[in-house]
Amino acid sequence: MASNSFGTLFRITTWGESHGKAIGVVIDGCPAGIEIDNFSISEELNSRAPGKSVYTSPRIEPDQPEILSGVFEGKTTGAPISILIYNKNADSTKYAPIKDLLRPGHANYTFLEKYGIFDYRGGGRASARETACRVAAGAIAKKFLKHYNIDVLAYIKQIGEIDAIIAPSDTPLLRSQISNSPINCPDPKATQLISALIEKTKSEGDSVGGLVEFFIPSLPVGLGDPVYEKIEAKLASAMLSIPASKGFEIGSGLKSVAMFGSSHNDAFICKNGEVRTETNHAGGTLGGITTGMPVIGRVAFKPASSIKLPQKTLTLNKEEKTFQLPEGSKHDPCVAIRAVPVVEAMVALVLADSILLNRSSKL
Ligand SMILES: Cc1cc2nc3c(=O)[nH]c(=O)nc-3n(C[C@H](O)[C@H](O)[C@H](O)COP(=O)(O)O)c2cc1C
Repeated sequence: MASNSFGTLFRITTWGESHGKAIGVVIDGCPAGIEIDNFSISEELNSRAPGKSVYTSPRIEPDQPEILSGVFEGKTTGAPISILIYNKNADSTKYAPIKDLLRPGHANYTFLEKYGIFDYRGGGRASARETACRVAAGAIAKKFLKHYNIDVLAYIKQIGEIDAIIAPSDTPLLRSQISNSPINCPDPKATQLISALIEKTKSEGDSVGGLVEFFIPSLPVGLGDPVYEKIEAKLASAMLSIPASKGFEIGSGLKSVAMFGSSHNDAFICKNGEVRTETNHAGGTLGGITTGMPVIGRVAFKPASSIKLPQKTLTLNKEEKTFQLPEGSKHDPCVAIRAVPVVEAMVALVLADSILLNRSSKL
């Protein structure tokens, strides 16, 4: 199975299955001298963990990261960093009764066709458990970005038809609003409405989709390369690699379709001696290269596939069957909420890699 690595210079490789003994990540190319401790990685992992509110899966995943290599006396050494996370709450028995059924919206059909074998316990390699490794690696990428005063924020922008009103500018305020919301949404009114929607959806045995917005308030000009490695192309690739992601947009995104050049073009202005733009429909990039304006984008997540309602499916022998989740199965009613820290981590990994790559741009 190829393609378990992401990034060019700041490169991660993840391994493990959700119901195996452990999962982990190796980070290659992380510069030496970055202060790292288990606590800051745990904190990030905590923000991804389920079981913290009624709006996410009641599964308990007590993720304790263990740094096995690449860190000495609290600092990265430049050697590969290896982080291990044991799977402590994996109940594989729930999956045995459905192992011969194609799970609607899940990967067992395509994995079986492609590899001829599938680890049905929790989805194996296709499981979103893998995203814990991305979050652990993202914690280190964020530390690296701190040296450049780069912050990455992600939050819920929309769930179902409920749109949050957010004007991302003041980063500390936004950060505290996000962490005060049980659904990672900085708009208190939308938080209330969305929470009620999720409770209703859950009680009906269904799930609901959501939109996660990411915001990078300040970035140097020049990250990203033209043609195939445009910064938005790298962000899109990172975002669309997250399980359940179905769409990506940057700046005015899909809304650009209904605009005219006269209103979409961002006028250049000089602010405190720096080139800036009056508006930011471009989302902080031109020609695939960061402009120095905030980078803003959005990722659409589908409703979770595992729902309590009965669904039409086939057995592995192509016989028609009704798919019913086994009693006591624990799933997210809205994956977008738990995807928020994963989006932040993937943005941080793209930026860390782009900063290192940018060192070869000119003399
Ligand atoms: C953080 C996170 C948690 C997830 N939790 C669930 C879940 O509880 N139930 C579910 O059906 N899908 C969940 N998913 C999505 C599935 O892993 C994903 O839909 C499935 O593996 C099929 O892959 P695809 O949707 O990318 O095609 C989650 C995704 C993320 C990012």
